[in-house]
Amino acid sequence: MTAVVGAQWGDEGKGKITDLLAQEADVVIRYQGGNNAGHTVVNQHGTFKLHLVPSGIFNPNALCIVGPGTVVNLQVLCEELANLERSGIRTDNLRVADRAHLLMPWHVAIDRLDERERGRQKLGTTGQGVGPAYADKVSRHGIQVYEVRDERRFRQRVAHELERQKKVLERFGDAPLDATAVADEVLRAATTLGDRIVDTLPLVERALKTDARILLEGQLGAMRDLDWGIYPYVTSSNPLAGGAAVGAGIPPRYITKVIGVVKAYSTAVGEGPFPTEMAGSEGDALRERANEYGATTGRPRRVGWFDAVAARHAHRLNAFTELAVTKLDVLGAYREIPFCVGYEVDGALTTDMPPTAVLERAVPRYEKLAGWCDPLTGVVDRAHLPDAARAYLMRVEATVGAPIGMVGIGPERSATLL
Ligand code: IMP
Repeated sequence: MTAVVGAQWGDEGKGKITDLLAQEADVVIRYQGGNNAGHTVVNQHGTFKLHLVPSGIFNPNALCIVGPGTVVNLQVLCEELANLERSGIRTDNLRVADRAHLLMPWHVAIDRLDERERGRQKLGTTGQGVGPAYADKVSRHGIQVYEVRDERRFRQRVAHELERQKKVLERFGDAPLDATAVADEVLRAATTLGDRIVDTLPLVERALKTDARILLEGQLGAMRDLDWGIYPYVTSSNPLAGGAAVGAGIPPRYITKVIGVVKAYSTAVGEGPFPTEMAGSEGDALRERANEYGATTGRPRRVGWFDAVAARHAHRLNAFTELAVTKLDVLGAYREIPFCVGYEVDGALTTDMPPTAVLERAVPRYEKLAGWCDPLTGVVDRAHLPDAARAYLMRVEATVGAPIGMVGIGPERSATLL
């Protein structure tokens, strides 16, 4: 069983890698997060930005599960499925865990209002309500997906929760939400999903018993992990492989492969420390060349050089069996490439990831690696990469401590060196 996990700030290209591996998978499970995700997939059907649906949806033979560890906006999920169906993609192989938590309209409102209240201390969330939905889950106010099955009780639950949330919305001067309208909207989406809402544990157990090939699809990356990321500039769940076991309902010992996805450079959307960030026109040029805009929010991504401290931090927490390096082609524009191998903090050099407030003042220590000035078009295996590109990859392996199994040199499935 393989987990595909982000090793940086998110947006590493997990969608592409999962789509590729899903061709050989029997079951694909999204184990955390919600529609804050934006997994870009380019394949023979077109270009897609998946928010909740696992990237395995393009393999009609794979069962795709939105796992119990996710928070699900049922209306958004239905829209996403309708879009896929319009492109001729079958979605009857999707299942939604009935133990997942519902992301409700008030969560979206509170996410935006909370960010507004934080002012200059804002987190830069995607505004999709993910944090407030997990907050309700943890404070034991959440509504689980299975609760839509009992309409009378569900309506009562919505009315009760809205009454509680009313005070929060009022404090921000927001108009109250109408309980009947909210419940109607969610119940309509639940009806559309019908018997695709299920207890996923028997499905997973059967898959394990029959040695089915299971792929676990993470959202975001280690630097945004609730426990090990740059708190508080993190998401509200655990993108780490450890989160996959709980979030998918898989006993941990079954996860045998963990693929860490890293971009050949770094990007981040949202606030928080980002030591190797490129300022000004240098950053703008890379952003434009690589089209680094958020798949969910359209926000320009912050861009920076490869940060081996961050990727090694991810490896220490995930024990990657291999790395998948994406977007190596983008670096083909540089004669010399700065590569961060450590941080200087208060006069000392470290390769350990310091806590957030210390990271804010960390100064990256760079090595200058030779560029290859080649767009890499037409390269079909790693041995035929220019020498400097191979040396760059070897430096990634040596500093992170994990071998590279895949290298992406373009957005399409085929532009991947295995
Ligand atoms: P939230 O998950 O929307 O609460 O946002 C928390 C942080 O994670 C913010 O910095 C977001 O920009 C970031 N984030 C959330 N989802 C993604 C994603 O899919 N890609 C990249 N960053 C994300």
